[in-house]
Amino acid sequence: MKLFVPKETTAGETRVAASPDSVKKLTGLGIQVYVEKGAGNASRIGDKDFQEAGAIVSESNSASIADVVLKVLRPTPAEVKGYKKSALVFAMMDPYGHEADVKAMAAAGISAFSMEFMPRITRAQSMDVLSSQANLAGYQAVVEAATIFDRALPMMMTAAGTVPAARIFVMGAGVAGLQAVATARRLGAIVSATDVRPAAKEQVESLGAKFIAVEDDEFREAETAGGYAKEMSREYQAKQAELVATHIAKQDIVVTTALIPGRPAPKLISGDMVKSMKAGSVIVDLAVERGGNVEGAKLDSVAKVGGVSIVGFSNMAGRIAASASQLYARNLAAFLQTMVDDESGKLAVDWNDELVKATLLTRGGKIVHPAFAEKPPSKATTKKRVTPKKTATKSTSTATKSGGSKS
Ligand code: NAI
Repeated sequence: MKLFVPKETTAGETRVAASPDSVKKLTGLGIQVYVEKGAGNASRIGDKDFQEAGAIVSESNSASIADVVLKVLRPTPAEVKGYKKSALVFAMMDPYGHEADVKAMAAAGISAFSMEFMPRITRAQSMDVLSSQANLAGYQAVVEAATIFDRALPMMMTAAGTVPAARIFVMGAGVAGLQAVATARRLGAIVSATDVRPAAKEQVESLGAKFIAVEDDEFREAETAGGYAKEMSREYQAKQAELVATHIAKQDIVVTTALIPGRPAPKLISGDMVKSMKAGSVIVDLAVERGGNVEGAKLDSVAKVGGVSIVGFSNMAGRIAASASQLYARNLAAFLQTMVDDESGKLAVDWNDELVKATLLTRGGKIVHPAFAEKPPSKATTKKRVTPKKTATKSTSTATKSGGSKS
Protein backbone atom coordinates (compact mmCIF):
# COMPACT_ATOMS: atom_id res chain seq x y z
CA MET A 1 0.00 0.00 0.00
CA LYS A 2 1.33 3.44 -0.93
CA LEU A 3 0.72 6.53 1.18
CA PHE A 4 1.53 10.11 0.21
CA VAL A 5 2.06 13.20 2.36
CA PRO A 6 1.99 16.35 0.21
CA LYS A 7 3.37 19.77 1.06
CA GLU A 8 0.44 21.94 2.16
CA THR A 9 -0.49 24.48 -0.49
CA THR A 10 -2.57 26.94 1.56
CA ALA A 11 -0.69 30.15 2.34
CA GLY A 12 0.27 30.35 6.00
CA GLU A 13 -0.19 26.63 6.67
CA THR A 14 2.99 25.61 8.42
CA ARG A 15 1.93 22.15 9.55
CA VAL A 16 2.54 18.81 7.84
CA ALA A 17 0.50 15.63 8.16
CA ALA A 18 3.41 13.34 9.07
CA SER A 19 6.35 13.31 11.45
CA PRO A 20 9.38 11.01 11.70
CA ASP A 21 7.52 9.21 14.50
CA SER A 22 4.36 8.68 12.48
CA VAL A 23 6.39 7.57 9.44
CA LYS A 24 8.07 4.90 11.59
CA LYS A 25 4.68 3.76 12.82
CA LEU A 26 3.19 3.64 9.30
CA THR A 27 6.14 1.87 7.68
CA GLY A 28 6.01 -0.57 10.59
CA LEU A 29 2.50 -1.46 9.43
CA GLY A 30 3.94 -2.38 6.02
CA ILE A 31 2.97 0.89 4.28
CA GLN A 32 5.27 2.55 1.70
CA VAL A 33 5.35 6.20 2.75
CA TYR A 34 6.09 8.96 0.19
CA VAL A 35 6.62 12.50 1.46
CA GLU A 36 6.77 15.44 -0.95
CA LYS A 37 10.14 17.22 -0.93
CA GLY A 38 10.13 20.10 1.55
CA ALA A 39 6.75 19.11 3.05
CA GLY A 40 8.04 19.42 6.61
CA ASN A 41 10.24 22.49 6.19
CA ALA A 42 7.87 24.92 7.92
CA SER A 43 7.57 22.49 10.83
CA ARG A 44 11.34 22.10 11.02
CA ILE A 45 11.18 18.49 9.81
CA GLY A 46 13.74 18.08 7.03
CA ASP A 47 13.59 15.65 4.11
CA LYS A 48 16.49 13.81 5.72
CA ASP A 49 14.51 13.33 8.95
CA PHE A 50 11.69 11.74 6.96
CA GLN A 51 14.15 9.58 5.00
CA GLU A 52 15.86 8.37 8.15
CA ALA A 53 12.45 7.39 9.53
CA GLY A 54 11.85 5.22 6.46
CA ALA A 55 9.98 7.52 4.04
CA ILE A 56 10.71 8.00 0.35
CA VAL A 57 11.08 11.72 -0.36
CA SER A 58 9.51 12.34 -3.74
CA GLU A 59 10.65 15.19 -5.96
CA SER A 60 7.21 15.48 -7.49
CA ASN A 61 3.65 15.07 -6.36
CA SER A 62 3.01 11.33 -5.87
CA ALA A 63 -0.72 11.68 -5.18
CA SER A 64 -1.72 9.84 -8.35
CA ILE A 65 -0.14 6.56 -7.17
CA ALA A 66 -1.22 6.80 -3.53
CA ASP A 67 -3.89 4.61 -1.94
CA VAL A 68 -3.88 6.95 1.05
CA VAL A 69 -3.23 10.71 1.20
CA LEU A 70 -2.59 12.46 4.50
CA LYS A 71 -3.16 16.23 4.60
CA VAL A 72 -3.58 18.99 7.12
CA LEU A 73 -6.19 21.05 5.25
CA ARG A 74 -8.90 20.03 2.77
CA PRO A 75 -7.52 19.39 -0.73
CA THR A 76 -8.67 21.81 -3.40
CA PRO A 77 -10.89 20.60 -6.28
CA ALA A 78 -7.82 20.88 -8.56
CA GLU A 79 -5.76 18.73 -6.19
CA VAL A 80 -8.35 15.95 -5.86
CA LYS A 81 -8.46 15.58 -9.64
CA GLY A 82 -4.90 14.27 -9.41
CA TYR A 83 -5.75 11.69 -6.74
CA LYS A 84 -6.21 8.01 -7.46
CA LYS A 85 -9.88 7.13 -7.70
CA SER A 86 -10.90 5.36 -4.46
CA ALA A 87 -7.94 6.79 -2.49
CA LEU A 88 -8.55 7.37 1.21
CA VAL A 89 -7.86 11.03 2.03
CA PHE A 90 -7.57 12.30 5.61
CA ALA A 91 -7.55 16.01 6.55
CA MET A 92 -9.26 18.65 8.63
CA MET A 93 -11.84 19.07 5.87
CA ASP A 94 -13.75 22.01 7.42
CA PRO A 95 -16.71 21.11 5.17
CA TYR A 96 -19.37 23.54 6.45
CA GLY A 97 -19.71 26.39 3.99
CA HIS A 98 -17.44 24.53 1.53
CA GLU A 99 -20.06 22.21 0.04
CA ALA A 100 -18.75 22.72 -3.52
CA ASP A 101 -15.37 21.30 -2.46
CA VAL A 102 -17.13 18.33 -0.82
CA LYS A 103 -18.94 17.70 -4.13
CA ALA A 104 -15.60 17.84 -5.96
CA MET A 105 -14.19 15.21 -3.59
CA ALA A 106 -17.20 12.98 -4.23
CA ALA A 107 -16.87 13.49 -7.98
CA ALA A 108 -13.20 12.45 -7.81
CA GLY A 109 -14.30 9.13 -6.29
CA ILE A 110 -12.15 9.48 -3.17
CA SER A 111 -13.10 8.47 0.36
CA ALA A 112 -12.63 11.72 2.25
CA PHE A 113 -12.39 11.64 6.05
CA SER A 114 -13.02 14.80 8.06
CA MET A 115 -10.84 14.45 11.14
CA GLU A 116 -12.75 17.15 13.07
CA PHE A 117 -15.78 14.86 13.18
CA MET A 118 -13.95 12.23 15.22
CA PRO A 119 -16.27 11.22 18.07
CA ARG A 120 -15.00 12.34 21.46
CA ILE A 121 -15.09 8.88 22.99
CA THR A 122 -12.37 7.12 24.97
CA ARG A 123 -11.39 4.82 22.08
CA ALA A 124 -10.77 7.78 19.77
CA GLN A 125 -8.90 10.07 22.18
CA SER A 126 -5.58 9.50 20.40
CA MET A 127 -7.24 10.54 17.12
CA ASP A 128 -8.90 13.73 18.41
CA VAL A 129 -7.41 16.48 16.23
CA LEU A 130 -9.67 19.18 17.69
CA SER A 131 -8.20 18.55 21.12
CA SER A 132 -4.58 18.17 20.03
CA GLN A 133 -4.65 21.42 18.05
CA ALA A 134 -6.87 23.42 20.45
CA ASN A 135 -4.63 22.47 23.34
CA LEU A 136 -1.59 23.97 21.58
CA ALA A 137 -3.62 26.99 20.43
CA GLY A 138 -4.61 27.74 24.03
CA TYR A 139 -0.97 27.57 25.12
CA GLN A 140 0.24 29.67 22.21
CA ALA A 141 -2.45 32.33 22.80
CA VAL A 142 -0.99 33.08 26.22
CA VAL A 143 2.57 33.05 24.85
CA GLU A 144 1.59 35.55 22.11
CA ALA A 145 -0.14 37.77 24.68
CA ALA A 146 2.88 37.62 27.01
CA THR A 147 5.16 38.65 24.14
CA ILE A 148 3.10 41.73 23.31
CA PHE A 149 2.38 42.64 26.95
CA ASP A 150 5.05 45.01 28.21
CA ARG A 151 5.12 43.84 31.82
CA ALA A 152 6.11 40.61 33.56
CA LEU A 153 3.35 38.08 34.26
CA PRO A 154 4.44 36.78 37.68
CA MET A 155 4.79 38.93 40.74
CA MET A 156 8.48 39.69 41.15
CA MET A 157 9.91 40.98 44.40
CA THR A 158 13.34 42.36 43.66
CA ALA A 159 15.79 44.66 45.42
CA ALA A 160 14.72 47.30 42.92
CA GLY A 161 11.07 46.97 43.82
CA THR A 162 8.03 44.77 43.27
CA VAL A 163 6.39 44.04 39.93
CA PRO A 164 2.74 43.08 40.46
CA ALA A 165 1.35 39.86 38.94
CA ALA A 166 -0.64 40.32 35.74
CA ARG A 167 -4.36 39.51 35.67
CA ILE A 168 -5.44 37.14 32.91
CA PHE A 169 -9.08 36.33 32.10
CA VAL A 170 -9.96 33.38 29.85
CA MET A 171 -13.41 33.32 28.21
CA GLY A 172 -14.53 29.84 27.17
CA ALA A 173 -13.04 27.00 29.21
CA GLY A 174 -13.04 24.12 26.71
CA VAL A 175 -9.83 22.42 25.59
CA ALA A 176 -8.09 25.63 24.40
CA GLY A 177 -9.38 27.73 27.31
CA LEU A 178 -8.30 25.27 29.98
CA GLN A 179 -4.82 25.04 28.48
CA ALA A 180 -4.71 28.86 28.41
CA VAL A 181 -5.65 28.88 32.10
CA ALA A 182 -2.98 26.29 32.92
CA THR A 183 -0.32 28.16 30.93
CA ALA A 184 -1.19 31.51 32.50
CA ARG A 185 -1.01 29.92 35.94
CA ARG A 186 2.40 28.38 35.16
CA LEU A 187 3.60 31.85 34.18
CA GLY A 188 2.50 33.17 37.56
CA ALA A 189 -0.47 35.34 36.57
CA ILE A 190 -3.65 35.82 38.61
CA VAL A 191 -6.10 33.88 36.46
CA SER A 192 -9.89 33.85 36.15
CA ALA A 193 -12.11 32.19 33.57
CA THR A 194 -15.72 31.97 32.46
CA ASP A 195 -17.87 29.52 30.49
CA VAL A 196 -21.55 28.85 30.00
CA ARG A 197 -21.17 25.14 30.76
CA PRO A 198 -21.51 24.39 34.47
CA ALA A 199 -18.99 21.49 34.22
CA ALA A 200 -16.30 24.05 33.41
CA LYS A 201 -16.48 25.62 36.88
CA GLU A 202 -14.85 22.68 38.64
CA GLN A 203 -12.23 22.28 35.88
CA VAL A 204 -11.26 25.95 36.08
CA GLU A 205 -11.07 25.86 39.88
CA SER A 206 -8.99 22.67 39.84
CA LEU A 207 -6.36 24.58 37.85
CA GLY A 208 -6.20 27.23 40.57
CA ALA A 209 -8.19 29.92 38.72
CA LYS A 210 -11.33 31.79 39.78
CA PHE A 211 -14.58 31.01 37.97
CA ILE A 212 -16.67 34.01 36.95
CA ALA A 213 -20.25 33.46 35.70
CA VAL A 214 -23.89 34.26 36.31
CA GLU A 215 -24.86 30.93 37.91
CA ASP A 216 -28.64 30.98 37.48
CA ASP A 217 -31.07 28.16 36.44
CA GLU A 218 -30.32 28.62 32.74
CA PHE A 219 -26.58 28.25 33.44
CA ARG A 220 -27.17 25.05 35.43
CA GLU A 221 -28.87 23.48 32.39
CA ALA A 222 -26.62 24.96 29.72
CA GLU A 223 -24.86 21.91 28.34
CA THR A 224 -25.86 19.60 25.52
CA ALA A 225 -25.79 15.83 25.92
CA GLY A 226 -22.57 15.89 23.86
CA GLY A 227 -20.90 18.18 26.41
CA TYR A 228 -20.98 21.29 24.17
CA ALA A 229 -22.24 24.79 24.85
CA LYS A 230 -25.78 25.81 23.95
CA GLU A 231 -26.59 29.24 22.61
CA MET A 232 -27.78 31.22 25.64
CA SER A 233 -30.92 33.40 25.83
CA ARG A 234 -30.65 37.14 25.25
CA GLU A 235 -31.46 37.73 28.92
CA TYR A 236 -28.61 35.50 30.06
CA GLN A 237 -26.21 37.08 27.58
CA ALA A 238 -27.11 40.54 28.91
CA LYS A 239 -26.54 39.50 32.55
CA GLN A 240 -23.28 37.78 31.64
CA ALA A 241 -22.12 40.82 29.65
CA GLU A 242 -22.73 43.07 32.66
CA LEU A 243 -20.72 40.82 34.96
CA VAL A 244 -17.94 40.44 32.40
CA ALA A 245 -17.82 44.20 31.71
CA THR A 246 -16.85 45.08 35.29
CA HIS A 247 -14.37 42.18 35.43
CA ILE A 248 -12.66 42.95 32.11
CA ALA A 249 -11.92 46.55 33.07
CA LYS A 250 -9.53 45.20 35.73
CA GLN A 251 -7.69 42.69 33.49
CA ASP A 252 -4.31 42.99 31.76
CA ILE A 253 -4.77 40.12 29.31
CA VAL A 254 -7.97 38.47 28.02
CA VAL A 255 -7.97 35.28 25.94
CA THR A 256 -11.28 34.39 24.27
CA THR A 257 -11.98 30.88 22.95
CA ALA A 258 -15.81 30.68 23.01
CA LEU A 259 -17.44 28.59 20.30
CA ILE A 260 -20.84 26.98 19.77
CA PRO A 261 -20.87 24.07 17.29
CA GLY A 262 -22.53 24.96 13.98
CA ARG A 263 -23.07 28.65 14.94
CA PRO A 264 -21.02 31.81 14.56
CA ALA A 265 -18.83 32.55 17.59
CA PRO A 266 -20.72 34.47 20.31
CA LYS A 267 -19.77 38.17 20.62
CA LEU A 268 -18.54 38.49 24.17
CA ILE A 269 -16.43 41.67 24.24
CA SER A 270 -17.94 44.89 22.94
CA GLY A 271 -16.02 47.94 21.75
CA ASP A 272 -16.90 49.69 25.03
CA MET A 273 -15.42 46.83 27.05
CA VAL A 274 -12.22 47.06 25.02
CA LYS A 275 -12.06 50.81 25.72
CA SER A 276 -12.56 50.17 29.46
CA MET A 277 -9.24 48.28 29.63
CA LYS A 278 -5.99 49.93 30.69
CA ALA A 279 -3.48 51.02 28.05
CA GLY A 280 -1.03 48.21 27.38
CA SER A 281 -3.65 45.48 27.83
CA VAL A 282 -3.78 42.62 25.33
CA ILE A 283 -6.75 40.60 24.05
CA VAL A 284 -6.27 37.40 22.05
CA ASP A 285 -9.35 36.28 20.08
CA LEU A 286 -8.95 32.58 19.28
CA ALA A 287 -12.44 32.48 17.76
CA VAL A 288 -11.54 35.04 15.08
CA GLU A 289 -11.83 32.51 12.22
CA ARG A 290 -15.43 31.77 13.21
CA GLY A 291 -16.51 35.44 13.34
CA GLY A 292 -14.69 36.37 16.53
CA ASN A 293 -15.63 36.93 20.19
CA VAL A 294 -14.22 40.45 20.25
CA GLU A 295 -15.48 43.59 18.53
CA GLY A 296 -12.61 45.10 16.55
CA ALA A 297 -10.60 41.87 16.13
CA LYS A 298 -9.07 41.66 12.66
CA LEU A 299 -8.18 38.38 11.02
CA ASP A 300 -4.42 37.77 10.90
CA SER A 301 -3.42 41.05 12.46
CA VAL A 302 -2.94 42.85 15.74
CA ALA A 303 -5.55 45.62 15.88
CA LYS A 304 -4.88 48.63 18.08
CA VAL A 305 -7.90 50.13 19.83
CA GLY A 306 -6.74 53.02 21.99
CA GLY A 307 -3.91 51.50 24.00
CA VAL A 308 -5.27 47.95 23.74
CA SER A 309 -3.87 45.35 21.32
CA ILE A 310 -6.34 42.80 19.91
CA VAL A 311 -4.58 39.74 18.48
CA GLY A 312 -6.59 38.02 15.72
CA PHE A 313 -4.21 35.38 14.39
CA SER A 314 -5.81 32.49 12.54
CA ASN A 315 -4.28 29.02 12.79
CA MET A 316 -2.78 29.64 16.23
CA ALA A 317 -1.65 25.99 16.40
CA GLY A 318 0.32 26.61 13.19
CA ARG A 319 2.40 29.18 15.08
CA ILE A 320 3.81 26.34 17.12
CA ALA A 321 4.15 24.16 14.05
CA ALA A 322 6.72 21.59 15.18
CA SER A 323 4.55 20.51 18.11
CA ALA A 324 1.29 20.85 16.17
CA SER A 325 2.54 18.65 13.32
CA GLN A 326 3.89 16.06 15.72
CA LEU A 327 0.53 15.68 17.50
CA TYR A 328 -1.58 15.92 14.34
CA ALA A 329 0.55 13.28 12.58
CA ARG A 330 0.11 11.01 15.58
CA ASN A 331 -3.69 11.52 15.45
CA LEU A 332 -3.78 10.50 11.76
CA ALA A 333 -1.52 7.47 12.19
CA ALA A 334 -3.65 6.21 15.09
CA PHE A 335 -6.82 6.43 12.96
CA LEU A 336 -5.23 4.87 9.89
CA GLN A 337 -3.88 2.01 11.99
CA THR A 338 -7.48 0.92 12.70
CA MET A 339 -7.97 0.46 8.92
CA VAL A 340 -4.91 -1.67 8.17
CA ASP A 341 -4.83 -5.44 8.45
CA ASP A 342 -2.04 -6.39 10.88
CA GLU A 343 -0.89 -9.44 8.97
CA SER A 344 -1.14 -8.46 5.31
CA GLY A 345 -0.47 -4.71 5.75
CA LYS A 346 -3.34 -4.10 3.32
CA LEU A 347 -6.22 -1.68 3.74
CA ALA A 348 -9.14 -3.33 5.52
CA VAL A 349 -11.63 -0.57 6.25
CA ASP A 350 -14.63 -1.52 8.36
CA TRP A 351 -17.15 0.86 6.82
CA ASN A 352 -19.54 0.16 9.71
CA ASP A 353 -17.07 1.24 12.38
CA GLU A 354 -18.49 4.22 14.31
CA LEU A 355 -15.31 6.24 13.84
CA VAL A 356 -15.41 5.68 10.08
CA LYS A 357 -19.13 6.46 9.86
CA ALA A 358 -18.73 9.67 11.86
CA THR A 359 -15.84 11.05 9.82
CA LEU A 360 -16.47 9.78 6.27
CA LEU A 361 -17.71 12.57 3.98
CA THR A 362 -17.57 10.98 0.51
CA ARG A 363 -17.23 7.49 -0.92
CA GLY A 364 -17.77 5.77 -4.28
CA GLY A 365 -18.65 9.00 -6.06
CA LYS A 366 -21.24 10.09 -3.46
CA ILE A 367 -21.45 12.39 -0.46
CA VAL A 368 -22.24 9.94 2.33
CA HIS A 369 -22.07 12.02 5.52
CA PRO A 370 -25.63 12.57 6.82
CA ALA A 371 -25.02 16.29 7.35
CA PHE A 372 -24.16 16.81 3.67
CA ALA A 373 -25.76 13.95 1.70
CA GLU A 374 -28.69 14.76 -0.52
CA LYS A 375 -31.75 13.21 1.06
CA PRO A 376 -33.82 10.78 -1.02
CA PRO A 377 -37.38 12.03 -1.62
CA SER A 378 -39.61 11.18 1.36
CA LYS A 379 -42.57 8.78 0.97
CA ALA A 380 -44.97 11.72 1.31
CA THR A 381 -43.26 13.51 -1.57
CA THR A 382 -43.33 10.36 -3.70
CA LYS A 383 -47.06 10.03 -3.09
CA LYS A 384 -47.64 13.63 -4.10
CA ARG A 385 -45.78 13.02 -7.32
CA VAL A 386 -48.13 10.21 -8.38
CA THR A 387 -51.31 12.04 -7.45
CA PRO A 388 -52.55 13.27 -10.82
CA LYS A 389 -54.39 16.37 -9.56
CA LYS A 390 -51.34 17.83 -7.81
CA THR A 391 -48.42 19.42 -9.57
CA ALA A 392 -45.07 17.74 -9.07
CA THR A 393 -43.38 18.76 -5.83
CA LYS A 394 -39.66 19.35 -6.12
CA SER A 395 -37.48 17.93 -3.40
CA THR A 396 -35.77 20.93 -1.85
CA SER A 397 -33.39 18.95 0.27
CA THR A 398 -29.75 19.74 -0.17
CA ALA A 399 -26.84 19.72 2.24
CA THR A 400 -28.14 20.59 5.67
CA LYS A 401 -26.07 22.07 8.43
CA SER A 402 -26.36 20.20 11.67
CA GLY A 403 -25.86 21.93 14.99
CA GLY A 404 -23.72 19.13 16.33
CA SER A 405 -21.00 19.46 13.80
CA LYS A 406 -18.39 18.07 16.10
CA SER A 407 -20.00 14.76 16.86
P1 NAI B 1 -15.51 24.50 21.75
O1 NAI B 1 -14.23 24.74 21.02
O2 NAI B 1 -16.72 24.12 20.98
O3 NAI B 1 -15.88 25.80 22.62
C1 NAI B 1 -14.95 26.39 23.52
C2 NAI B 1 -15.63 26.74 24.81
O4 NAI B 1 -16.44 27.92 24.65
C3 NAI B 1 -16.57 25.68 25.38
O5 NAI B 1 -16.13 25.29 26.65
C4 NAI B 1 -17.91 26.38 25.41
O6 NAI B 1 -18.74 25.95 26.49
C5 NAI B 1 -17.51 27.84 25.57
N1 NAI B 1 -18.55 28.83 25.28
C6 NAI B 1 -19.48 28.85 24.31
N2 NAI B 1 -20.25 29.96 24.39
C7 NAI B 1 -19.77 30.68 25.44
C8 NAI B 1 -20.15 31.94 26.02
N3 NAI B 1 -21.17 32.66 25.57
N4 NAI B 1 -19.44 32.38 27.08
C9 NAI B 1 -18.40 31.65 27.58
N5 NAI B 1 -18.02 30.46 27.06
C10 NAI B 1 -18.69 29.98 26.01
O7 NAI B 1 -15.28 23.40 22.89
P2 NAI B 1 -14.17 22.29 23.05
O8 NAI B 1 -12.95 22.89 23.57
O9 NAI B 1 -14.06 21.54 21.76
O10 NAI B 1 -14.79 21.35 24.17
C11 NAI B 1 -16.19 21.15 24.27
C12 NAI B 1 -16.50 20.04 25.24
O11 NAI B 1 -15.98 18.79 24.78
C13 NAI B 1 -15.94 20.23 26.62
O12 NAI B 1 -16.93 19.78 27.53
C14 NAI B 1 -14.78 19.30 26.68
O13 NAI B 1 -14.47 18.93 27.98
C15 NAI B 1 -15.33 18.15 25.87
N6 NAI B 1 -14.27 17.28 25.36
C16 NAI B 1 -14.37 15.94 25.56
C17 NAI B 1 -13.38 15.10 25.12
C18 NAI B 1 -13.49 13.63 25.35
O14 NAI B 1 -14.37 13.20 26.04
N7 NAI B 1 -12.63 12.84 24.77
C19 NAI B 1 -12.19 15.60 24.41
C20 NAI B 1 -12.21 17.03 24.23
C21 NAI B 1 -13.23 17.82 24.68
